[in-house]
Amino acid sequence: MQTESIEKCGALRGEIRVPGDKSISHRSVMFGALAQGQTRVRGFLRGEDNLSTLTAFRAMGIAVEERPDGELLIEGRGMQGLSEPADVLDCGNSGTTIRLMSGLLAGQRFFSVLTGDRYLRRRPMGRVLQPLAQMGAQIWGRQQGQCAPLAIVGQPLKGLSYQSPVASAQVKSALLLAGLYAEGETRVYEPHLSRDHSERMLRHFGVTVDSFAGGVSIAGGQSLQARDLEVPGDISSAAFFLVAALIVPGSELLIRQVGVNPTRTGILDILRAMGGDIRCLDERELGGEPVADLLVRSSTLKGIEIGGALVPRAIDEFPVISVAAACAEGTTVVRDARELRVKETDRIAAMASVLQTLGVTVTTADDGMTICGQETFQGGQVDSCGDHRIAMSAAIAGLCAGTALTIRDTACTETSFPGFWPLLAGLRRQAV
Ligand code: S3P
Repeated sequence: MQTESIEKCGALRGEIRVPGDKSISHRSVMFGALAQGQTRVRGFLRGEDNLSTLTAFRAMGIAVEERPDGELLIEGRGMQGLSEPADVLDCGNSGTTIRLMSGLLAGQRFFSVLTGDRYLRRRPMGRVLQPLAQMGAQIWGRQQGQCAPLAIVGQPLKGLSYQSPVASAQVKSALLLAGLYAEGETRVYEPHLSRDHSERMLRHFGVTVDSFAGGVSIAGGQSLQARDLEVPGDISSAAFFLVAALIVPGSELLIRQVGVNPTRTGILDILRAMGGDIRCLDERELGGEPVADLLVRSSTLKGIEIGGALVPRAIDEFPVISVAAACAEGTTVVRDARELRVKETDRIAAMASVLQTLGVTVTTADDGMTICGQETFQGGQVDSCGDHRIAMSAAIAGLCAGTALTIRDTACTETSFPGFWPLLAGLRRQAV
């Protein structure tokens, strides 16, 4: 099992890039496959999750060339161009792959089976299967349709108006994909706006998607036209280095070409509210998505309260936000974040355990946690629980630990951030 050891370091300085956005990379393959014609994708994230999506589409007859310069060339075959996969489709650790594909496969003219690793097979699938069943989908899963593996017998679908109980882009996107194949209109309402990459990319491919207060709608029977795409850097990956630079005294980092879609920038709002000095430079647009260079300087942080609509806008960043909170003056309270319990692992329990090992006072609630900030951490040994974001958040906490922090089970960072450890090691080597 891979382990990493981190301890206190000097100021982090310089200019970095982070790999492409995971959510956008998944969608580039899915929508590119459904489009008519060739889609060229620059900046595709070659993380394990996205490779699961790529492999699944290849297994359904989609040709994808991976060029040496990292560009993907996807030969889209149109809305009815997928073919029945000869084997089970393995979604690995990827919730986005399995949930979005459930929606997409529900309306095909063939049979398919989706599964994943032991972590994914524990995660709730009922949230997509239940509304899909109302559209006419025939999908079976373990535990009364709650868990993968999922067996899908493609069916003609009908549109649905659905109020989602959770703000989830995976639920919304699964229903939009099924809605493309359904007769009539599909409307999805959500309690707070979740990330809108599907809506933006579908529009980029020529589909009409209507966004309104509280939801989104799509008419069935539309087709996609191939369009080139450029994937911005993933703000969820940049988040680790934003927090690193904030908490290590004297640091200043410039992170180039990061996606700053407003449905994803909760991390910037939260860190700024804590007193973090983060500037967005050279804001521009790339393939329908806003991007900027982020300049971050070490800052004295203070504890804040986080809840409500801000939560889905920073949902993947709470592990590293909890590290910032542990370094802040005063107490940080996170509420309304029950979703963290059903991510790659239970991220409330996992981060509480990491921070407690470091000597931080943390209490947990069903929907969040309370973290008392302090000046330094002690070292020790922590476990990633097989969750990429727990492993990377622990590494950032280690930068403030007085003695070495050992992190067990660190190969999982390949899920979303290939090259994380060398990038961090390079910055630490040059630390001043
Ligand atoms: C994602 C949506 C979010 C997020 C996940 C990626 C997506 O999940 O946590 O990492 O690409 O649509 P939920 O839809 O469960 O909130």
